Amino acid sequence: MSEIFTIKSIFRNYRVALADSFEKSILQYGKENSFILVDQKLLALFEKQFASILSKYHLISIEAIETNKTIDYCQKLIKRLIESGIRKDSKVIAVGGGIVQDITAFTSSILFRGIDWVFYPTTLLAQADSCIGSKTSINVGAYKNLVGNFYPPVEINIDLSFLETLPVGEIKSGIGEILHFYLVAGSEFVESLVNEYDDLISKPSLMKKYIMESLRIKKRVIEIDEFDKNERNLFNYGHTFGHAIEAVTAYGIPHGQAVTMGMDMANFISMNLDYLNPSL
Ligand SMILES: NC(=O)c1ccc[n+]([C@@H]2O[C@H](COP(=O)([O-])OP(=O)(O)OC[C@H]3O[C@@H](n4cnc5c(N)ncnc54)[C@H](O)[C@@H]3O)[C@@H](O)[C@H]2O)c1
Repeated sequence: MSEIFTIKSIFRNYRVALADSFEKSILQYGKENSFILVDQKLLALFEKQFASILSKYHLISIEAIETNKTIDYCQKLIKRLIESGIRKDSKVIAVGGGIVQDITAFTSSILFRGIDWVFYPTTLLAQADSCIGSKTSINVGAYKNLVGNFYPPVEINIDLSFLETLPVGEIKSGIGEILHFYLVAGSEFVESLVNEYDDLISKPSLMKKYIMESLRIKKRVIEIDEFDKNERNLFNYGHTFGHAIEAVTAYGIPHGQAVTMGMDMANFISMNLDYLNPSL
């Protein structure tokens, strides 16, 4: 396992590392005390790898759907964790994308007023964006990400092999979010990302350098504005329209793809303000 960054956080600093094989990396966390929350799709896709973990760890599978990102779901999860013997010094290990992340992070932040959680992000969006930054977000009815707090994991381990099984739409979604970071920061990686786009879709293992650049950009900003009061607001570029697109399509369009459309719409509006305000 190789360390990429340490993120400075108001809560505590936390490290981001590359893990060669998640199933071996997970073994570093004590099996008596660790509770693995895993995206249920991954149990089938990585059956062999999970076989060695299943018999040793407490494992709870989660269906990664927006309607599970609720307070009610987290409450049921807390009950299950307590009945399985979780204690204040236990660790919760999340293996999944942004949905499993949000459910785990929010649950960990309130259980015993905060227990440690570790993250293995499995989507491109989670590896290149959401894994750092401390946000937890829960939906309330139709209101997306309305409730939450800031509660970073103690460690993040990125295993790029998870990208091999991701559907193309989710790869495109991750690239959309990466592109958004590059555009906000004026990154020189934009050109090569665009040139290599087709190769990246067919061979996502090539994504490593783009993930690193995306995390470098986000790291610079969250370390000075973790609580999203000033500089971090820049990352909302494309997100207001993006969230609206997700809502009207009932999340049929993945988040990062909606953000790229949202950036297009924001660009159009900003270049054509006279349409909206005839007095200009
Ligand atoms: N907390 C944050 O900072 C933050 C930031 C951005 C987005 N989010 C949230 O993240 C969610 C979106 O997360 P996401 O885009 O990572 O995806 P996701 O968790 O919604 O997963 C997308 C789909 O991919 C599947 N999947 C996950 N990993 C896979 C793999 N390796 N192979 C095959 N299939 C896999 C899932 O089962 C699901 O069907 C949204 O709810 C969004 O609000 C949170």
